[in-house]
Amino acid sequence: MTTPHRPILVFYSAVDDFGAWQAALAAAAPEVDVRLAEEIDDPARVRYALVWKPPAHFFSRYPSLQLVINLGAGVDSLLGRTDLPAVPITRLSDPAMARMMAGYVLFAVLRHARDIVFFQRAQRAARWSYRHPKSADQTRVGILGLGELGSVAALELARQGFDVRGWARTPGTVDGVACFHGLDTLGTFLAASQVLVVMLPLTPHTTGLLDRSRLQQLPQGACLVNVARGKVIDEAALIEMLKSGHIAEATLDVFAQEPLPADNPLWAMDQVLITPHLASVALPATASTQIAENIRRVEAGESVLHQVDPARGY
Ligand code: GLV
Repeated sequence: MTTPHRPILVFYSAVDDFGAWQAALAAAAPEVDVRLAEEIDDPARVRYALVWKPPAHFFSRYPSLQLVINLGAGVDSLLGRTDLPAVPITRLSDPAMARMMAGYVLFAVLRHARDIVFFQRAQRAARWSYRHPKSADQTRVGILGLGELGSVAALELARQGFDVRGWARTPGTVDGVACFHGLDTLGTFLAASQVLVVMLPLTPHTTGLLDRSRLQQLPQGACLVNVARGKVIDEAALIEMLKSGHIAEATLDVFAQEPLPADNPLWAMDQVLITPHLASVALPATASTQIAENIRRVEAGESVLHQVDPARGY
């Protein structure tokens, strides 16, 4: 199986399991040799890079690179680099990743809609505090961003009976979901969102989109879920609004600075749940088929699937 001249795919991620990716790719794309940078003697044989936040100057070692595969959905950190080679970049577009994300979003929305924060507080005080549950259709959920991940989460919430609306920069439709688009409708959309779920990619258009004035358009006592990127939101304004109670609760998986610094006030807020950027992750078993297909396409001189448009930012 191992011929000395197989092209190499170099792998880099500080958070993903190399062994799992190597095994999945050995099955899906046996024509490539999957290695870590330190296992490569002949960098000229590297034609593919499968990477999540590689260190600076990572790519300059590989003069024969043909394709950079972002080991994740969001490409903002890759596109923000100055050392990107002039080759196609693809992102993962994996239904299993969308399902995992929809699961986290459902958990977070239920946490807010079913008053879990209230019950956790009561439990800490050993207090039996009954609060009668609302039915799902009594909670209006706004999904900000209806891309591959946002639309699956919106469908899942609609399936659970929530009153779901979606907003995107450009027109789109999702079954059972009232869809809004364009900045003109954003204020109305925010004003209706009792639970706002942020699922936008980070691009020049979305950086700081939820600034103080837009956050103030949320209804009093709204809850906020961010599974996208921290920099879509003005974090200082969010902290102030959590303190004032205008935003009652939040579930946050992403932050302007990661890891979230120990002195960030969000850590100490009992109405905030913090998870360390893992609402969804790339899954080797399913994503490796898509990677294998793109490798086949590059070898055949065809255009790749899920190519990132650096100008658009995703
Ligand atoms: C994770 O944040 C990803 O973009 O895949």
